[in-house]
Amino acid sequence: MEELLSEAARRAIAYRRRVPDEPIRPDPSADLSELGGDFPDGPTDPMKVLELMDEVGTPGTMGFSSSRFYGWVIGGVQPVALAADWLVSAWDQPTYAAEASPATVAMEAAAIQWVKEAAHLPETCWGVFVTGTTVAHIATLAAARSAVLAAEGWDATGQGLFGAPPVSVVVGAEVHPSLVKALGVVGLGRHRVVEVPADAQGRMRADAFPDVSPPAIVCLQAGNVNTGSFDPMAEIIPRAKEAGAWVHVDGAFGFWAAASPRLAHLTEGMELADSWATDAHKYLNVPYDAGLALIRNPSDLERLMSIEAAYLVEGHIGQDPGLYAPEMSRRARGVPTWAVLKAMGRSGLVDMIERTVDMAQRFADGMREAGFSILNDVVLNQVLVDFGGPVETQRVVREVQAEGILFAGPTVWQGKTAMRVSVSNFGTTEKEIDESIDAVLRVAGR
Ligand SMILES: Cc1ncc(COP(=O)(O)O)c(C=O)c1O
Repeated sequence: MEELLSEAARRAIAYRRRVPDEPIRPDPSADLSELGGDFPDGPTDPMKVLELMDEVGTPGTMGFSSSRFYGWVIGGVQPVALAADWLVSAWDQPTYAAEASPATVAMEAAAIQWVKEAAHLPETCWGVFVTGTTVAHIATLAAARSAVLAAEGWDATGQGLFGAPPVSVVVGAEVHPSLVKALGVVGLGRHRVVEVPADAQGRMRADAFPDVSPPAIVCLQAGNVNTGSFDPMAEIIPRAKEAGAWVHVDGAFGFWAAASPRLAHLTEGMELADSWATDAHKYLNVPYDAGLALIRNPSDLERLMSIEAAYLVEGHIGQDPGLYAPEMSRRARGVPTWAVLKAMGRSGLVDMIERTVDMAQRFADGMREAGFSILNDVVLNQVLVDFGGPVETQRVVREVQAEGILFAGPTVWQGKTAMRVSVSNFGTTEKEIDESIDAVLRVAGR
């Protein structure tokens, strides 16, 4: 065992060392067929399994953890988070209740408490680590559905939605598709939403916010996946609450702006919501997967998620993930988040978030100086660059990706094709941004 684990650590360290110097794209000539084939008739030496994984599999990996990776919204992996993740696997604690897994439950609880404090969420709020924002939406929107219907005298958790009063759901025109998917999963429907028009940055227009009446759920966004913009939560949430609606915030990455005194104006009012969904695997730079479902009144989630059985732990304590999680058996996936928050502290968290914004602005400045247009206000970590029309922009994106010095993807923002740059890696500094600017401008012929 020792040899095998040491070899895994050696290979993992070698991989991480190589990432900055290797093309970011998976090797197009990587032959992954050896990873498949027939189910082996008998055993293979575990050391050979590891060797196969590294020698055949590694060339087929994308350099997501590179500090010149700007595709989608993808954080890297802080070394302390990777180390903690290894220990989580070695511990193998199904993190359901403190009685069985006291250490990992305590670490997840501490992480939730720190996140609450960093984002200035209400004291009553609690939550649970899930696989990502999509599942956090599913968990909290299901709780929202049950709570708003319970207020109308309907037990949705017990009786389902058959015959229930219809729930109005309000979203912005630039809602993230993961939220729309979650609405479908929890029985509220992907298509029966009221869509509020958005402005040029993708923010829900407060002046177009409709009259709502209970039972209703209003879904807002902290951090648009293209522009990084924030819905005007301070304006909309009090109105929605006054009208008796439940307010949910999709803060997959923008949530973390609340931790920075410089950026907190963007999330003003977010603390007034009833539920929040966010990711740690994006902005906190922990390994996949880690998201957080947070709720103002934890009993709303507990009523939906908790179960009883003679063989289960009796007398849960309020911090037991088993009370709030969609899963029963679950990995202690909050522990790497605990480790990064402990290692960085409040000041480290703020520095990391603010640095990504500075670096996004540096990249945008480099593009502007070369004469290219930036399609969004760079308020957070997202930059949209137009290289002079869809054909040229697509060419630049394709060739930049093929060259492999950095990775950025294409998007279409309100009818215009753009290169979409998301600075989400803890290690992206001026050096990486300047190298990236040089590489992009070379491909763009400047
Ligand atoms: C705004 C927003 N919401 C939700 C999601 C979905 O998050 P996850 O992939 O962790 O489920 C994303 C992912 O990019 C996002 O940017």
